[in-house]
Amino acid sequence: MGDRRSWPVSLRGRLMVSYLGLLIMALATVVLLALGYLERTALEQRRETLRAHARVVAGVSGQYMLKGHDYLEYISRDYGQLVGARVLILDRGGRVLYDSFYETEMLGVDLSPRQEVTTALNGKEAARLTRLPGVGRTLYAAAPVVDRGRPVGAVLVVQVVESIWSELAAVRQVLLLVSAAGLALALAAGWLLAASLTRPVQVLHEGVRAVEEGDLSRRVEIPTRDELGQLAEAFNAMSARLERVEQSRRAFVANAAHELRTPLASLKALVEPLLSGAVTDPTEQAEFLRDIAKEVDRLTELAGDLLTLSELEAGRPAQTEPVDVSGLLEQVRDRLLPLARANGVEVRVAPSLPSLIRADGLKLERAIYNLVHNAITFSPPGEEVVLHAERTADGVRIVVQDRGPGIPQEDLPHIFERFYRSERSRSRTSGGAGLGLAIGREIVQGHGGKIWVETEAGEGTRFVVQIPIPA
Ligand SMILES: Nc1ncnc2c1ncn2[C@@H]1O[C@H](COP(=O)(O)OP(=O)(O)O)[C@@H](O)[C@H]1O
Ligand SMILES: [Mg+2]
Repeated sequence: MGDRRSWPVSLRGRLMVSYLGLLIMALATVVLLALGYLERTALEQRRETLRAHARVVAGVSGQYMLKGHDYLEYISRDYGQLVGARVLILDRGGRVLYDSFYETEMLGVDLSPRQEVTTALNGKEAARLTRLPGVGRTLYAAAPVVDRGRPVGAVLVVQVVESIWSELAAVRQVLLLVSAAGLALALAAGWLLAASLTRPVQVLHEGVRAVEEGDLSRRVEIPTRDELGQLAEAFNAMSARLERVEQSRRAFVANAAHELRTPLASLKALVEPLLSGAVTDPTEQAEFLRDIAKEVDRLTELAGDLLTLSELEAGRPAQTEPVDVSGLLEQVRDRLLPLARANGVEVRVAPSLPSLIRADGLKLERAIYNLVHNAITFSPPGEEVVLHAERTADGVRIVVQDRGPGIPQEDLPHIFERFYRSERSRSRTSGGAGLGLAIGREIVQGHGGKIWVETEAGEGTRFVVQIPIPA
């Protein structure tokens, strides 16, 4: 390959040059082969015809040869005129007896040194092509004259065959003309074809450039269904995906900033009166400090959630270990007992068969913790939250069931989105930033599992986590 930037650089140019080269080679080969074939067959035909003439004249001459009949003179003259050739009749020694051209100086000339004449005098036919100066290419055909089985002379037929090549020149001219016309047509077609191939490439190139420069809304349109069309489709899917990712990244940053601002503003509002000395009563001061600690807790939790999400997104392969599901549920219940007590909610782990799965124990616990945390938060006092696990055909199913208000239909498609909270929970001062379910789903999907919710207004909510057990 060498220098890949050598001329011509453009795809279209390269296509055209190779196309043109192939075409000219093919045409030249065809023309040369055709001309060669025509030349050979034309010459061969003339040679055979001339040999036949020599044979015919020799055949009729045989019986008159020794008698020296003048009849031979008429034969040579008339036959020569008839077929447009010079006919010479030679005696046994190869000397000229009759010449259809009546060149008297030829009479008696010994032609036996000529190769074809020698062969004929020896009883065999022969033909030869020579170039006569001033006349051109000339064919000689000789045939033996036989009388009662004995060679008595020879017939030499001579014809100038230059006309073969003048005719071939005409044919060559026609072939070249037709080839040139065909070449021009093919070039035009090739130009269009190259354009139809390179135009989509150009369109794609512009699209890639635009995306590279940051225009993620850029799509390309290639109407064909071929490889280039498929490439365009893939490109469009890619830029659409990039655009979505970029949008959600922006939204995420904006949401995170917003969520950080709220507790920070509260902190400022709590710290300022303390600093300015507006709050002097020690019990009131202690209340302010408790509120400050609560806000710091909220911030810490938010920071932890954000960190967890970014870790989950980094998509590090899960560190799996055998995890006992019932034990995990009990652990979650124990950790959330203080919250449950504070809310007056009972958390119960329903008995289930022990089942081991391979999972990242800490992460899975985090996911279930988020579900149970919600269930406790949204349950009215006096109600019960039930956790249980069951084996299914291909894995383990963990269910978190509460008897809270349920999730409104319009919230259902969004609750797993980051920062999504229903109107009701947004107005609440307590509660998370809307990251709990997003984290939970990320973890479950990281385990190859599924998470979904079943809910009915006033009937409570059921979150189901399905973790597969590889066979
Ligand atoms: N058990 C539940 N009962 C009623 N609504 C729930 C329950 N779990 C989640 N939701 C709804 O889903 C939303 C998102 O939950 P989550 O991601 O944990 O965020 P957060 O708990 O911070 O509000 C909640 O705001 C709430 O509207
Ligand atoms: Mg939550």
